[in-house]
Amino acid sequence: MIEQFKKEVDQGLSSNPKTLPSKYFYDEIGDDLFVQIMNMPEYYLTDCELEIFSTKAQELIAAFQLEQGVPFEIIELGAGDGSKTKHLLKALIHAQYDFDYIPIDISQNALDQLQDLLHKMLPTLRVSPRQGDYFGVLESLKSGQKKKIVLFMGSNLGNMPNDRAHQFIYQLGSNLNAGDRLLLGLDIIKDKSIVLPAYHDAQGITKAFNLNLLTRINKELGANFEINQFDHSPEFSEETGAAKSFIKSLQQQQVYISSLNKSYSFEEGELIQTEISQKYNAEILQQVVQGTDFEVTHKIYDSREYFADVILSRS
Ligand code: AVJ
Repeated sequence: MIEQFKKEVDQGLSSNPKTLPSKYFYDEIGDDLFVQIMNMPEYYLTDCELEIFSTKAQELIAAFQLEQGVPFEIIELGAGDGSKTKHLLKALIHAQYDFDYIPIDISQNALDQLQDLLHKMLPTLRVSPRQGDYFGVLESLKSGQKKKIVLFMGSNLGNMPNDRAHQFIYQLGSNLNAGDRLLLGLDIIKDKSIVLPAYHDAQGITKAFNLNLLTRINKELGANFEINQFDHSPEFSEETGAAKSFIKSLQQQQVYISSLNKSYSFEEGELIQTEISQKYNAEILQQVVQGTDFEVTHKIYDSREYFADVILSRS
C-alpha cells in the first residue's frame, strides 16, 4: 500500500508535466472534506443526482426493464452514504420487486456504516455488502443467474480520462451478462460560470481538499512540502468537457521526500495536475461507449439538465 503510494508519487513528480493521482485524496481528512464539498452550494452535482433519484425513481425503474417476480440484483460500485440510492431502493420495495442490494467498496468501514443506516431506514431490504475491488467482486458474482443492475453514480466515471473510461466500461461488460443494465451518473458540459465554481468554491474547501494531498505526502512519506507555498488552480474547457485541478507552486522551491531519499524542484507557477473531472455530451458519451458491449437506452436528466443518469444495456 505505502510502497505503491511512494512509487506513484515518485513517478508523478518525476514526470513533465508533473502529476499526482486523485485516488490519494481520500484519507480520513479527505473523506471529511469531500462530504463538505457535496454540501457546498457551488457543488451542484450531488443535488442534481439526488433530484433525479428522489423525483424520477419510477423512470429509472422503467429504464431497467425489470419483471415482477423475477429476482435481480442492484449492485452499486462505491458504497456512498445511501442518500441518493435509498430513494430508488425504497421505490423498488414499495413496488414489491424481489431483489438484493449489493454495495461494493474497498472500505469495510464505509460498507458497515451504509448497512447500519439502510437497516434502520428500510428494514425489509436485503443488503449483501462485498468488500474488495469492483472487478474482483463482479467476477465472483458473474456466474449468478440473476439479472444485474450496476450503478456507478456521482460522476465518478469522470475521474478517468475518456480512453480509460472506455476501458473501464469495456471491462464492466466482460464481467456482466447479456440483458444486464448499467447506470452511469454523468455531469453534462455546460457554461464555465457554473462548472468552475464547483471546483473553486468561495470557502476554499476544494482548495483544502486538493492541498491535503501534499499534507498526506508530508505525513506518510516524510516530505517537507510547505503547504502555503502552493495554491489550488482549477480549469475547465467547454470544448473538451475536461475540468482539471492543479496544485500550483507559488515560488521556485525544492521539496525533499525522506522515504524516497529524493528532492524535487518546482518552478514558480509550475502546475501539478491532480485530478480530471470529465463532463459529457452525446458525442463524448458515444466515444466512450463505442466498441464496448453496451448500448445507451435512456438518459434521465434533472430539471436544469445539468446532470444525467444514463442507462445502458449489455448486449
Ligand atoms: C467524486 C470524482 C465525482 O470530480 O466532481 C470534487 C471529486 N474533486 N471536487 C468530482 C471532486 C473536487 C468528484 N468526484
